[in-house]
Amino acid sequence: MNSLGKMFKLAVFGESHGKCVGVVVDGCPAGLKVDERKIQGELDRRKPGQSKVATARSESDKLVVLSGVFEGRATGAPIAMLVWNEDAKSVDYEKMKNLPRPGHADFTAQEKYGGFNDYRGGGIFSGRVTAALVMAGALAKQVLESKGIIIAAHAKKIGSVETSREFSASEMARESEKNIVRSADASAAARMVREIEKAKSEGDSVGGVVECVAEGVPAGIGEPLFEKLDAEIAKALFSIPSVKGVEFGSVKEKGSGNNDEFVVKNGCVSCRTNNAGGVLAGISSGMPLKFTVKVKPTSSIARKQKTVNLKTLKQEELEVHGRHDACIVPRVIPVVEAATAVVLLDQLMQAQKIGRIIK
Ligand SMILES: Cc1cc2nc3c(=O)[nH]c(=O)nc-3n(C[C@H](O)[C@H](O)[C@H](O)COP(=O)(O)O)c2cc1C
Repeated sequence: MNSLGKMFKLAVFGESHGKCVGVVVDGCPAGLKVDERKIQGELDRRKPGQSKVATARSESDKLVVLSGVFEGRATGAPIAMLVWNEDAKSVDYEKMKNLPRPGHADFTAQEKYGGFNDYRGGGIFSGRVTAALVMAGALAKQVLESKGIIIAAHAKKIGSVETSREFSASEMARESEKNIVRSADASAAARMVREIEKAKSEGDSVGGVVECVAEGVPAGIGEPLFEKLDAEIAKALFSIPSVKGVEFGSVKEKGSGNNDEFVVKNGCVSCRTNNAGGVLAGISSGMPLKFTVKVKPTSSIARKQKTVNLKTLKQEELEVHGRHDACIVPRVIPVVEAATAVVLLDQLMQAQKIGRIIK
């Protein structure tokens, strides 16, 4: 379904070529000072047309807050937010109505909704709909930051180019905005840009891996068995179109190398290493949450591909035109942070570590 969460709940609405994309957030702690510039800042990180490696669709993605904020603070009532669609070009899609793009949502959406789905621009399955998650995530981030919890992500890998070392959340946040692929590793970033440009010039696309870290998460968060912290975060991450894998920590070959030995640091139980990625038995360990997200290469490519005409059931060839991201990774980074923030806040509220009122 199109809603998520128990105490910090969100419901997403809108389509790529409809009127708008929006979200209703129910349960945002009352009293939160809502900084709309910060929400706009997150939308700007995700919006199209921001660099030569992103789609050329031109949307201002200007935040509109419709309800739930009074005199700059959350009232406790639902907060409805949206961005208008200003630059949809549906004609590109009408020609392809019966020709599903390989790798995209066209075929499965038509099967599921009996052909009544809005197929223009991928409808609700478009990357554009992640603007809704970003608006909700920006609110959640503001609550989390007030409790000392910082979330940051960056491009760990694009195509065959990988970063050379590990980065903390503050390094990721500081360094990744200095280049258009959003990698904390400046030298890898330059090579990543070249990799995307090469694929684009060949009518192709590339995928990659996003790495995300959340620091300051207290130990003891998560609701096993079926709502483990890692499972809930993975569920939200898999709602992001193009995400094909999520891995917490990094599993080593042997137990002796994999176990994170317990130590005492500043009078508290801590771990010497963090191979578990901050989660044991679905419960936060107090170590930074650390996970990677595998993003597939963009399916809409300018090469001839085989498809089937769904009306005639005849084999046809398809060349996808229109405006597409040659690599989704740079724009997915703020969305990964947002998905993480909404789940963390919801779980912290369920654990009564964050109340319904913030003063
Ligand atoms: C920010 C963002 C931008 C995207 N841009 C495109 C795009 O330009 N062209 C495209 O074919 N897919 C794009 N996608 C991915 C598709 O929406 C996605 O592949 C499709 O809905 C099928 O879902 P799946 O890949 O999760 O199976 C984008 C995804 C995100 C998150």
